[in-house]
Amino acid sequence: MLDLEKYSKIVVANWKMNGSFKFIDDFVEKLDLLENSDSSTCKVICPPFTYLDYFSNKLQNINYGAQECSKYHEGPYTGDISAEMLKDLNCHFCILGHSERRNFYNEKSSDVAKKSSNCINFDIHPIICVGENLEERKLNKTKDILKKQIDESIPKIANKKNTIIAYEPVWAIGTGLTPTLDEINQIHEYLKESTKYSEGFRIIYGGSVKSSNFKEIIELENVDGVLIGGASLNFEEFKKILEFTYSS
Ligand code: PGA
Repeated sequence: MLDLEKYSKIVVANWKMNGSFKFIDDFVEKLDLLENSDSSTCKVICPPFTYLDYFSNKLQNINYGAQECSKYHEGPYTGDISAEMLKDLNCHFCILGHSERRNFYNEKSSDVAKKSSNCINFDIHPIICVGENLEERKLNKTKDILKKQIDESIPKIANKKNTIIAYEPVWAIGTGLTPTLDEINQIHEYLKESTKYSEGFRIIYGGSVKSSNFKEIIELENVDGVLIGGASLNFEEFKKILEFTYSS
């Protein structure tokens, strides 16, 4: 397992169901210009499963992650990919409990906990996503929702060395909307301190992060990094974000 404590910030790119061999070739060619990267920022790219191996053989100064894994270990589970298989691909991270999985595939927090535990057992850091939807926010239920998701999604073997939490307000994902900086900082503080299951964990923020707001978000006291969807697929955007991590 990687030593997360040696990193001051964590930048994770979530490609979702996007990419192709050609796209990766172009991406790698351009990113190679940034070989002399700083080592205090942990950079992680999470492409679809099918490109993990191809990508990791091409670009080595970046870590790789999956976007999902099975709650089972092996056997008759058609379509599933186990944590052990991800380990074989040299995968060090796995996004779990993303709101798209929770909403479109009805994934339960208890499943997220099982999957996270499988990952930890194979030296893969789960990046466990939690976040309120717009209605919950309007009803002022954000903290209650987050507490419940955290309590139920974090397995007992998780600790601040092996697990990362991503706060992703559902209403901010892919919409161009974000909470205020103050709100992000306060929620992260709440997650770090008030929830006994997540005490001291690294908490990264996700939801419409782009080059124009990246700096102010990642510099917040309680923010340990970012999870970037759309902007990580736009080379110009991603390059600007990575360049900032080199110069900071
Ligand atoms: P976004 O996605 O950056 O496109 O809002 C973030 C995510 O879904 O992880």
